[in-house]
Amino acid sequence: MAEARCRVVVLISGTGTNLQALLDTFAAADSPAEIVGVVSNRPGVGGLERAARAGVATAVVDHRDFPDRAAFDAALLDKVASFAPDLVALAGFMRILGAEFVRHFAGRLINIHPSLLPRYPGLDTHKRAIEAGDSHGGATVHFVTEELDGGPAIVQAAVPILPDDDPGALAARVLTVEHQIYPLAVEWFASGRLALRDGQALLDRQPLPAGGYRFEE
Ligand code: GAR
Repeated sequence: MAEARCRVVVLISGTGTNLQALLDTFAAADSPAEIVGVVSNRPGVGGLERAARAGVATAVVDHRDFPDRAAFDAALLDKVASFAPDLVALAGFMRILGAEFVRHFAGRLINIHPSLLPRYPGLDTHKRAIEAGDSHGGATVHFVTEELDGGPAIVQAAVPILPDDDPGALAARVLTVEHQIYPLAVEWFASGRLALRDGQALLDRQPLPAGGYRFEE
């Protein structure tokens, strides 16, 4: 009998092009991962339609329905846990997760961030990279810890910043590599090659370098 596939829940807040890349990569029944649920904190977003089109279960946990962050976090945790995930992947999820959520899914919670971490955690990454005169922007997949955008890096890809770039143009260029490195990281995890041990990201039991595996197109 085939081994059980890695159950992945994807958390989104918006358009969901990274979600789409994951849905496309793991659509085949013999792939190592299966997207079993998509949870959004915003109703009506494009990512929910993408999931529905792919026949994947969806749920909305709207942060505006809760009196405070702790109550939202608890409801989100319950909803995500109801899918019995092996891996939780944040894909354009724009809420900061509380400590309890992060601890509950520790070692099986990953995020994609649109910068070459540790540069530019937080928001407006492309605008900040352009304003700083950086030669490159990029994206990083990392394990989520309680430090915002600060957990151990798994894989990183760089793209050039061109002279006429505005944040939108750079964001579009970065997204093309996001759509390659996120499926790669999920595939590594799903096939048992990637783990977080004692705060260190390991690939094939070897420590990954500080910026993660350097992806080249
Ligand atoms: C992506 O660029 C992702 O890296 C970023 O949001 C975008 C979502 O696009 N995530 C963050 O900024 C997290 N702080 P998508 O909805 O098309 O996947």
